[in-house]
Amino acid sequence: MERLQKVIANLGYTSRRKAEELIIAGKVKVNGEIVKELGAKVKSTDTIEVEDVILDNNKNYEYYLLNKPREVISSVSDEHKRKTVVDLINTKERIYPIGRLDYDTTGAIILTNDGYLANKLMHPSSNISKKYVAKVNGLVTGYEIKQLRSGVIIDGKKTAKAKVNLKKYDKKTDKSLVELVIHEGRNHQVKKMFEAINHEVIKLKREEYANLKLTNLKPGEYRHLTNKEVAILYSLIKK
Ligand code: URA
Repeated sequence: MERLQKVIANLGYTSRRKAEELIIAGKVKVNGEIVKELGAKVKSTDTIEVEDVILDNNKNYEYYLLNKPREVISSVSDEHKRKTVVDLINTKERIYPIGRLDYDTTGAIILTNDGYLANKLMHPSSNISKKYVAKVNGLVTGYEIKQLRSGVIIDGKKTAKAKVNLKKYDKKTDKSLVELVIHEGRNHQVKKMFEAINHEVIKLKREEYANLKLTNLKPGEYRHLTNKEVAILYSLIKK
């Protein structure tokens, strides 16, 4: 038996303190009944519902942040037997990636077995921010940067406003390094945005997903998300 607020926090729904607030506010049910006392204890067989979301008390939720290397596919399996992001993580749980990065894109990707969170984060309405750094051919001019910021047409539809900055231009190699923060997740979005302004992306890296940074993770390395980080992801899908 464990304290209700601890179980809610451990399941990654929110922090322990926020869980206490939710309990006091009458937003938590155990086996269908509202429980407002903070000392309440629950068993692993109890059904816990927070803000109308049923938490799977028996499931061992896992959340990873992986720095995806190149030449790895962002899915659970591949018919061509290429290495997948799931192959890189040592776990017995059936985890899957939240969203996709192209085969040749590197960087931040989250994997989990928490289907509720994954579906919410992948839904376009979640507006999750993603920061990319793209190395592209040629000089990306100030005018083109403005075009990317205000939106370019890809697949017949204008992209949403984005934060875009030229970080560097190397005259010798004639290549630009551009940082973009976007909130959409359309297919090959960054490559297509540059295609729309006639620049080819040579290298693409996602540096941040929902403000989770790759700090110290080399390509192929991963770490567990902290309870606090999972709670932040949950707060993002509730907005
Ligand atoms: N945009 C792309 O073009 N590719 C990715 O992998 C991610 C975003």
